[in-house]
Amino acid sequence: MPGRIPKEFIDDLIDRADIVEVIGSRVQLKKAGREYKSPCPFHNEKTPSFTVSPGKGFYHCFGCGAHGTALGFLMDYERLEFPEAIEELAHMMGLTVPRDEQAERQAPTAPILDALNKAAQIYQRALKTHQPAIDYLKSRGLSGANSKAFGIGYAPGGWDFLLKQFPNNENTHDQLLGAGLIAKRDSGGYYDRFRERIIFPIRDSRGRVVAFGGRIIGDGEPKYLNSPETAVFHKGRELYGLYEARKSLRNIESLLVVEGYMDVVSLAGHGIHNAVATLGTATTADHLKRLFRAAREVTFCFDGDRAGRDAAWRALRTALPEMRDGRQISFLFLDEGEDPDTMVRQHGAKGLQDALLNKVTLSEYLFREVGEQNDISSIDGRAAFAEMARPLIDLAPEGVFRELLTDELARIVGLSRDKLTVLDTRQAPVQRRPQKAGRVASRSTLVRHAIEIIINNPETVANIAIPEALHEADLKGLPLLLELIDIINNKPGILPSGLLERFRNKPEFPHLEALLIADSTIIEVTQKEAQLSDCFQRIIASGRKQRFAELVSKAGSPEGLSQDEREEFKNLSMLQQNTD
Ligand code: GTP
Ligand code: MN
Repeated sequence: MPGRIPKEFIDDLIDRADIVEVIGSRVQLKKAGREYKSPCPFHNEKTPSFTVSPGKGFYHCFGCGAHGTALGFLMDYERLEFPEAIEELAHMMGLTVPRDEQAERQAPTAPILDALNKAAQIYQRALKTHQPAIDYLKSRGLSGANSKAFGIGYAPGGWDFLLKQFPNNENTHDQLLGAGLIAKRDSGGYYDRFRERIIFPIRDSRGRVVAFGGRIIGDGEPKYLNSPETAVFHKGRELYGLYEARKSLRNIESLLVVEGYMDVVSLAGHGIHNAVATLGTATTADHLKRLFRAAREVTFCFDGDRAGRDAAWRALRTALPEMRDGRQISFLFLDEGEDPDTMVRQHGAKGLQDALLNKVTLSEYLFREVGEQNDISSIDGRAAFAEMARPLIDLAPEGVFRELLTDELARIVGLSRDKLTVLDTRQAPVQRRPQKAGRVASRSTLVRHAIEIIINNPETVANIAIPEALHEADLKGLPLLLELIDIINNKPGILPSGLLERFRNKPEFPHLEALLIADSTIIEVTQKEAQLSDCFQRIIASGRKQRFAELVSKAGSPEGLSQDEREEFKNLSMLQQNTD
């Protein structure tokens, strides 16, 4: 495994990448004013609403809401993972990706992968000579070919079956420990982690074994034992069976997300090759990104019991922000006590296909659940319904899908869309539309508004004075605002896309990305600067107001104000008078 790519190289690459060239080499772009247009490659359309803005290094489709940087485009269009997209971008620019050898030494993944690969072969060989394990797999309906396709193996009993297959030295032991294959004894020495278990190798997108799941034969606790998190295995990222699905299917139309290893293998045995499983964890945003990189449609299969329904609701919330147009999600709820494996074993592939006819789409599921908690026969109930649904709908990215959800909500509660927007979205996580300066409402939207101006026009920061007092305000989002200013000051001329990419793996990324919606309205930079200056003043005033209110309430408490606080209070009250 190559070393880590140095961060500076990535920053530089993104700064230098020409988005028109990157997209233009894959999609036919036509110049239109300062931008470029084409029919959108992410959804079907006749009139071009896909817009590339070289000035921002950003693309945006006004039809389906797809948007991103050159790097994001490569990831979505070519279905590449981050490092692969970096490789591709560098390749286009005639550069070689340097690898950080030091980082490599710190996290040596190659020996770990090597150990896992060897172990997988050892377990697979061991299966052949352990008849009870073979009998168990047969009793569960797996054929030899089926087991082979998934590399299923067996870890025999004893405490050192695996250990004995490797050289007995400290170096090797470190390697096996790092791979999660052995554990240390308190009394010194080591023992095998997997014993007397059927072994399911978990492969990453490139087919490399990164972990194992081990099932006990028959009954016992724990039923499944998984590898621990290691340098090469992160439970919240991997999907069991995805590699195998891609290998057996040329084109994956849709993916079926099931709960267990056995479900995946058993379905494949019945000719259903598009099933994958999360590894005993909730579905994460990472999972969803991977799923949608492989297919446009995803169906979650859950138990009909309480736990299954809770898991489904969590999946819905995680999925909403990923619901770009063209992507589809449905849910299938099984009867209690059933799982996909038992279904195909009892009723064959057709049994499951028939059940799938009863799947509900994400929007049906959303409104059904909200409907179960609110009685829409009364006015109050309808208002509560709208209030509960609205913030959920706002989790979806802008685009046709969100519009349709809004229409449906309007229909259910019997209000026009205009009235619904008046209900407003106090809990909405992200302000998506640019607001007119001067009508900025709450404190958080003030900071958000400033961030919006900055991320869309980094050059504004270079040209206006950043007031010192800005650092003192204690408002939500302010640290991010200051971080952005800092990045721009250290790298004048950075494009919006470059600024955004600095946050790619951070929690702020989706919020910033949502703010960087190419608003193609051409407003002069000087005007933006004025807006930003104005915003800063309001943030400062707002921060002072908040602090003043805190001091007022503290002054009234038994604790009272300290000497310093009294001084601060006096200063603030003077400033308040000047501004109010
Ligand atoms: P079978 O009984 O073999 O059919 O198992 P299943 O695939 O139907 O598994 P089940 O629905 O019981 O659990 C679904 C998934 O949750 C499994 O594939 C595991 O990933 C995980 N899981 C289940 N039991 C355990 C356990 O005891 N420990 C851990 N760590 N994970 C488990
Ligand atoms: Mn099962």
